[in-house]
Amino acid sequence: MSKHKRIHDARWEPFSPDGLIYPLFVCAGRNVRQDVPLLEGVSRLSEDNLVEEVKKIYLLGISHILLFGIPKGKDNSARGALSRDNLIAKAVKAVKQAVPQMVVMTDVCLCAYTRQGHCGIIKGGRIDHAATLDALAQMALSHAQAGADFVAPSAMTDGQVARIRNTLDNYGYYDTRIMGYSAKFASYFYGPFRYIADSAPRFGDRRGYQLDYRQDRAAWDKVEQDIREGADIVMVKPALAYLDIIAQVKRKISHPLAVYNVSGEYAMVKQGARGDLWQEKDMVHEIFSAYRRAGADFIITYYAKEIAQWRQDEKT
Ligand code: PBG
Repeated sequence: MSKHKRIHDARWEPFSPDGLIYPLFVCAGRNVRQDVPLLEGVSRLSEDNLVEEVKKIYLLGISHILLFGIPKGKDNSARGALSRDNLIAKAVKAVKQAVPQMVVMTDVCLCAYTRQGHCGIIKGGRIDHAATLDALAQMALSHAQAGADFVAPSAMTDGQVARIRNTLDNYGYYDTRIMGYSAKFASYFYGPFRYIADSAPRFGDRRGYQLDYRQDRAAWDKVEQDIREGADIVMVKPALAYLDIIAQVKRKISHPLAVYNVSGEYAMVKQGARGDLWQEKDMVHEIFSAYRRAGADFIITYYAKEIAQWRQDEKT
């Protein structure tokens, strides 16, 4: 029996899979399931294994996934993200064919595809704004053509939501929606993710385009801009150290609000549980209650599958 006391009086239902969005990492090859040593429970999956995983989690009650691509090669122009039959486009098609009811969201960003590891196209040592918007729009279009329900631009490039909305509409993809990574802070909590996606910047950092965590003003401006540009869901990221931002945004908008329980937040809870500093479920319960209390409608989390499993175990 646990030496820790359980808290039973949940006002929210933090263990409900409703509103959870499960991030999944897609890599090239066949029958690949590569566990990430730094991040227990997270793996890189080839398309065939991805499809099997999606079937399983759908049965557990998870209805939303967010796909990230881990391409084989990188170059200066993110070519791996742009071809019509790119890694993610193919994965979306396969998932939609196997589980059509699954809401498929795709990350639209260049950092995993470019040699420099920045979220945009680099020319002359800096981000080329026009080239980056072109690339992001093309990438988003390829996902829409493959059947993605949502594209989620996360490059923090000014005007990315408007540009993508415009491109999707021009090609007749009026129903493909956009989840904006609207208030995305330059955060140390992303450390483990950059290891999984192999997307750490090779020079400099992301402070030129991600938000400064010492300030809250810019976050609201970004959210407002994304809504103006046509975002259907807006996001605050990370979540745990940014509950004030989540609450402020929630008070001002009627759009659905997503929060991203990012890799560093996830790893902290895992590591603490491993070291017997706390019971994992208790900690997840408290933190996820806080996200809901602050106003999260959707929670993007590597915990989605485990939470859904806990829920199912409780029922049986
Ligand atoms: C960038 C991106 C990041 C994450 C998702 N997409 C962060 C970054 O490297 O700037 C982080 C997610 C996480 O930490 O779980 N395209």
